[in-house]
Amino acid sequence: MPLVTTTDMFKKAYEGGYAIGAFNVNNMEIVQGIADAASELKSPVILQVSAGARKYAKHSYLVHLVEAALEEASKSGNDIPIALHLDHGADFDICKSCIDGGFTSVMIDGSSLPYEENVEVAKRVADYAHEKGVVVEAELGQLAGIEDDVNVDAANASYTDPDQVEDFVNRTGVDSLAIAIGTSHGAFKFKPGQKPQLRFDILEEVAKRLPQFPIVLHGASSVSQEYVKIIQENGGNLADAIGIPEDMLRKAATMAVCKINIDSDLRLAMTAGVREHLMAHPEHFDPRQYLGDGRKYVKDLVSHKILEVLGSDGKA
Ligand code: G3H
Ligand code: 13P
Ligand code: ZN
Repeated sequence: MPLVTTTDMFKKAYEGGYAIGAFNVNNMEIVQGIADAASELKSPVILQVSAGARKYAKHSYLVHLVEAALEEASKSGNDIPIALHLDHGADFDICKSCIDGGFTSVMIDGSSLPYEENVEVAKRVADYAHEKGVVVEAELGQLAGIEDDVNVDAANASYTDPDQVEDFVNRTGVDSLAIAIGTSHGAFKFKPGQKPQLRFDILEEVAKRLPQFPIVLHGASSVSQEYVKIIQENGGNLADAIGIPEDMLRKAATMAVCKINIDSDLRLAMTAGVREHLMAHPEHFDPRQYLGDGRKYVKDLVSHKILEVLGSDGKA
């Protein structure tokens, strides 16, 4: 099966009350861990690439790794739909480059721009993408946390205004919309002692204004304390790392949220596997040994997400 867009995935996810995991990929072991888990559980999956990932691994390596994942899934008899998505495209040019370069979905992130400029750039990307059969995600409202090396502090973050969503989607023609309801990027989502909370009232209001329209949740890692503990016990320092409670993500997945973005959890799983391996085997210096353990932890993590958070198992 070739790479697919997210159109069919989102339609079924909306109707079925589950969500598709969108996992950030930066190297071969991460692609393999995610694809193996998704393929074994017969789950559709989105593999997404940030500008930082393209800079680190290069566009063509990532496209070919994702194509290889499709090929291996098919060979194993567990063909699954995979979409290749640009995460946080900052402008028209990077979106165009990914649309022309084999991606099936792009995000144009104009969320830090004034509203009219966000509309303008999102419409320009959607017009171009649709001509080429590619789908587009845009964002309204701003999350706190780290985005492509830019730190958006909590004071500059803002919840999505439900009064804007209909106008935005009608005027731009985008296919899905990321909204800000209290999630944030990175592994430190709440201050020590702060109670994790999400604005489900905003999500409900957005869903009323945009019936059947797929909503995207960024900054949706749950920062599993199991991996944080392994990192802490093996020479790391991630005290106070905290994410979104899984029951809240599960609830969002049963509502209008069709795409849940996960990057920090993959980083934690990979780091836990590598740190644990190297501490247990100080004599090892073959990357296949420690990266192999990182890959196994990535696979375990993605299986857990599919089964316990997303509910996308068996939906391929
Ligand atoms: O939203 C941000 C993603 O976690 C990507 O992070 O820009 O460091 O690759 P990155
Ligand atoms: P996390 O940092 O919570 O994994 O969010 C990732 C993300 O939103 C990628 O766009
Ligand atoms: Zn994001």
